[in-house]
Amino acid sequence: MQIFETISELRKSLLPLRLQHTLGLVPTMGALHEGHLSLIRASKADNDYTICSIFVNPTQFNNAEDLKHYPRMPEDDLKLLEAEGCNAVFMPEPIEMYPSEPVINIGFGALETDMEGKHREGHFNGVGIVVAKLLNMVQPHRAYFGQKDLQQYTIIRQMVKDLSMDTQVVACPIVRETDGLAMSSRNLRLTTEERKIAPQIYKSLKHCANQLRDGKSVAEARKEAISFLDGLDVFNIEYIDIVSTETLAPISEVSDFEKTAICIAAHLGQVRLIDNLIVSDEV
Ligand code: PAF
Repeated sequence: MQIFETISELRKSLLPLRLQHTLGLVPTMGALHEGHLSLIRASKADNDYTICSIFVNPTQFNNAEDLKHYPRMPEDDLKLLEAEGCNAVFMPEPIEMYPSEPVINIGFGALETDMEGKHREGHFNGVGIVVAKLLNMVQPHRAYFGQKDLQQYTIIRQMVKDLSMDTQVVACPIVRETDGLAMSSRNLRLTTEERKIAPQIYKSLKHCANQLRDGKSVAEARKEAISFLDGLDVFNIEYIDIVSTETLAPISEVSDFEKTAICIAAHLGQVRLIDNLIVSDEV
């Protein structure tokens, strides 16, 4: 597996390769788990050459503590990528990615009015900048993102379209632990007790989806999901929103289960967890 630490090495090696082979990029912040590995596998199935980037991007954190405690385990990550047969990894230092503070600002309009955009100020500007930089550096044919970050996937798809970038943005399904907890690098920070209770987030999503499918109103189903999680007395809910997957705006009535997502962000102890479920998904 090739390891690149600088943009110049990366470009020198990849740009000629791109002319004859298809390139897949899997952008990550490391602390890799099965969710990331499913993206690597999807990229390997679709492309001749797969490159994974590992970079804990400071500009997308609006909370210094979260950035400080974000898990970093580069050696384990390299072993996992090697075992998957990933062709290359790009692991730049912050100074390589940001020799100076970017002055550009990327706004996503109504797509970032709610949910993560509302609760993490500047987050999508940071995501947009780093993903645009990575896409420019690698120029992949395809780039892979997990649906756990539904709003992130949607804003990146829009950015690529708006900026006429020559990359297909591919979304891959959420990978869950056997007890339903969505895989996330942040799960590593849960205590044993918190880890046991964390799957209740998925339980509340499934219950809410069932209620909507049974004809309950959006307002009632949402209220029940909130009171279920609140009733456990351990979660600090940031939002539970029932939204259109196209506009990401909260809806008051469901017209199409396939285009309706229930999205949650909640704090459990020191850890902020997010998850979502498309109402039509089999549960
Ligand atoms: O989803 C992530 O891990 C990050 O937001 C991403 C896309 C790698 C950008 O830093």
